[in-house]
Amino acid sequence: MGETLFLGRVLSFQRRPEGAADAAALTYHAAGAVHVKDGRILAMGCADELRRGAQGADIVDHREHLILPGFIDTHLHFPQVQVLASWGKDLLDWLNTYTFVEEQRFADMAHCEAMAVGFYDGLLRNGTTTGVAYGSVHATSAEAMFAQAEQRGMRMIGGKVMMDCHAPEALLDTAQSGYDESLALIERWHGRGRLSYAITPRFALTSTPAQLEAAGALCALHPDCYMQTHVSENVNEIARAKELYPDAPDYLGIYERYGLLSERALLGHAIHLEPREIEVLAGTGAKPVFCPTSNLFLGSGLYDDAGLRGRGICGGIATDIGGGTSYSMLQTLNEGYKVLQLRAQQMHPYQAFDWITRGNAEALGLVHEIGTLEAGSVADMVVLDSRATPEMALRADRIETLAEELFLLMIMGDDRAVAQTYVAGAAQKDV
Ligand code: GUN
Ligand code: ZN
Repeated sequence: MGETLFLGRVLSFQRRPEGAADAAALTYHAAGAVHVKDGRILAMGCADELRRGAQGADIVDHREHLILPGFIDTHLHFPQVQVLASWGKDLLDWLNTYTFVEEQRFADMAHCEAMAVGFYDGLLRNGTTTGVAYGSVHATSAEAMFAQAEQRGMRMIGGKVMMDCHAPEALLDTAQSGYDESLALIERWHGRGRLSYAITPRFALTSTPAQLEAAGALCALHPDCYMQTHVSENVNEIARAKELYPDAPDYLGIYERYGLLSERALLGHAIHLEPREIEVLAGTGAKPVFCPTSNLFLGSGLYDDAGLRGRGICGGIATDIGGGTSYSMLQTLNEGYKVLQLRAQQMHPYQAFDWITRGNAEALGLVHEIGTLEAGSVADMVVLDSRATPEMALRADRIETLAEELFLLMIMGDDRAVAQTYVAGAAQKDV
């Protein structure tokens, strides 16, 4: 692949900014560059300095635009690309009416393959270079998800969902077949290239105790795999979980009992947590994942970011396609900002852009590889144009600071503001 020097306004975070005044948490070079060799970052810094060490390198000129680490989406559903924007009352109604119907189509490999193309095209057009995705119950869905990511060189994490009750017959595995199929997928895909497996019991409502036990056994056998599921998203869902598992102290206690919680556990939504559940998150290092567009769309509730951070819990942020309504992590920030406003919590744009890059990488334990533009990281990058539309350009005329520009991008920006996306230094968008 050789060497390339990407010129632009370079922005990367070293830690979560404490607020507006905490510019020390970030690195910003207004006349900056990223020097990439064979898909990895050799250096980021001032363009004049980097040019000296990059003689002979190809030059890619993104001056005027911002270059950031590629966005990371820590919770989304591959088989819901054709569920997105389906009208429904609330979570359980929406699952039964649309999602469990649509996911049946993923028994067919040709359908999975066609959908995988649209799925990754959508992510990359929106600047997302890493996702943590759920498949359907069918091993075929995970196969297609991994194969297409591998073809594009993307850092992906995912797995087939395990679900053995309370859903249409065609979507059910069994405790044994779910275990066997997940294990076969782990052996085939986990650690292959840039791919990792996530053991994926869908949620307590669609798994019997025997299946959760099997999922726990998989986690014990493969502690380097991720584990992903849903928790405490919707009040009716929580009531049902308690009905199905009457001996559990609370919803999260169900997963705790079966050995599913660790630093590599990702818990989608985590909205209506009880005090004991928050202590369990703090104690196990399991990560809640904020899914703002979905939480608003399904009327699920308002995530308590400050409350969780106050206990030292730094979760992820994600689209939750297709309960979520946009592939765009910028639009996810837009809605996330508003959700937190309703809780009288303000998300500063520095914190917001740190979250969808370094923060999400940290939640996944992958900061050494993705989420920043530090030397040694893979060159997964996004190039942002804050004048992408006439309306954005008009607003941008009155902007004076980087923080103001980032705020404009997260409130008004979407795929149109993504001028280019790079996966390991390779351009992904037709421009
Ligand atoms: N809980 C269990 N399955 C799902 C799903 O597909 N989407 C959301 N938002 N919540 C879930
Ligand atoms: Zn989900």
